[in-house]
Amino acid sequence: MRLILLGPPGAGKGTQAETLIEKLAIPHISTGDMFRKAIKEGTGLGKKAKEYMDAGQLVPDEVTIGIVKERISQADCAGGFLLDGFPRTVNQAEALDHILQEMNLTLDAVINIEVPKEKLVGRLTGRRVCKTCGATYHLIFNPPLQQDKCDKCGAELYQRADDSEETVVNRLNVYEQQTAPLIEFYGTKGILKTINGDQPIDQVLGDIGKNLGRNW
Ligand code: AP5
Ligand code: ZN
Repeated sequence: MRLILLGPPGAGKGTQAETLIEKLAIPHISTGDMFRKAIKEGTGLGKKAKEYMDAGQLVPDEVTIGIVKERISQADCAGGFLLDGFPRTVNQAEALDHILQEMNLTLDAVINIEVPKEKLVGRLTGRRVCKTCGATYHLIFNPPLQQDKCDKCGAELYQRADDSEETVVNRLNVYEQQTAPLIEFYGTKGILKTINGDQPIDQVLGDIGKNLGRNW
């Protein structure tokens, strides 16, 4: 299955992706995670991405499209993939159409997770992420069993650099201006599935399943 997870920062894309990739047995392609890894490793890509991410702006399309094209051409994506955080501009969506056409592939669905804007700031500023395995928690809505430790691997949790309130506000504005137009872009293609993301995590997962014809 070839899927896109769409939604504003904090909608729960990464949280749902953690379970969806296990249930569907497809790789998780998160451009945000790819950039964060590159920054940590100090690569050329990381150096290019850092200043944009720290400011809550989008990394330029030519950089982002290139890394996604390379990633979905890899052997483990032959049976499908879950794109999370890409595409994020109409230009990226058109480029993805092009790449898939060249590969003779189509998208099965675009899952749009909707959450009222006023809830997103609190979700992002309270988020904590595992340093080792990337699992996502929330201080109130999805707390780890032991304070500041990952339930899955025991490693330490940290707060993402772009989860400060100031940067979050920029990210939400960038979403409205540059990413929200994709709802119409995919709506007119007839593959958009809109999910209420303002419910408990397992209910959101259940609704995604129903929209994909799965009863989990
Ligand atoms: P990226 O890493 O993609 O971040 P994002 O889209 O801003 O999304 P988030 O990861 O912040 O949110 P999410 O929807 O995954 O929410 P989560 O599940 O964690 O991008 C970061 C940056 O990289 C961008 O700003 C840009 O600079 C760059 N970038 C990335 N892709 C790019 C692209 N294609 N083009 C250009 N630049 C790009 O959940 C949030 C919190 O809420 C968590 O604490 C979670 O526990 C909690 N939560 C989740 N679900 C629920 C629920 N149902 N109820 C209550 N709480 C919940
Ligand atoms: Zn972990």
